[in-house]
Amino acid sequence: MLHGQTLFGSFIVHPMSGLEDHAGDIFRKSRVGLRVAAEELIEMLGWSQADLEHFEQEGRAPSTESTKWNAVCERLELNPKKFQSILRGWEPEPIRHPWVTQIQTDGGGMAVHAYLVQDPNSTQTAIVDTGWSADALMQEICKRGLEVGQIWITHGHRDHIAALPELIQALPQAQVFTGNGLIPQAHRIESSQWLKLGLLSVQVHATPGHAEDGLTFIVNYSQHSLPGVAFVGDAIFAGSMGGAPRQFQLQP
Ligand SMILES: [Fe+2]
Repeated sequence: MLHGQTLFGSFIVHPMSGLEDHAGDIFRKSRVGLRVAAEELIEMLGWSQADLEHFEQEGRAPSTESTKWNAVCERLELNPKKFQSILRGWEPEPIRHPWVTQIQTDGGGMAVHAYLVQDPNSTQTAIVDTGWSADALMQEICKRGLEVGQIWITHGHRDHIAALPELIQALPQAQVFTGNGLIPQAHRIESSQWLKLGLLSVQVHATPGHAEDGLTFIVNYSQHSLPGVAFVGDAIFAGSMGGAPRQFQLQP
């Protein structure tokens, strides 16, 4: 569900848009987090087990009849109006930012985003997460002549760090910042810290929940009259919170 995308071989560079989690993902995260039995929801919706499995996998419901969804949303503590609009295909407006580039990598059908964040005053650049493959990132870096001195890791789930060994090898000068001590020679951030990227100030906060080592990087572009950008990893999606079954009750 991507708009305005441009294809370059096996990867995609495009304006930031679309939902990474569909209605079925949102439904499943609440069901698992609140420990609601699948059978109860199947009965409420008048579905079969296969209907529920297909919905959670694909995000397409056999029925969008609203009275049933209102009751189900109440049970799952979801906003019924917002959930049903996602069910009917709502997507956020694409975000275009002159100094942030989103790059989508594909891990056998599972899309994961990485980002390039550039200082407007120079070519100094940070990579945010790696996605599945370094190819698209490296091609964009070479094409634009960017100097990558930092790699920011929002969390250590495999889909966000799969290409880290490749990138460390290709960019030996880059410092890696993470929230865990598992990556050799990485700079570990445990609470709040400021980084500099060229003339940009970057605030880093520990944001555990979806992952124990979750970090959020907030880049301040106010000197350029642009909104700040927060890289939250999987902590927040456009349509929902990130999955956090073990800490579900901490979510707002
Ligand atoms: Fe994750």
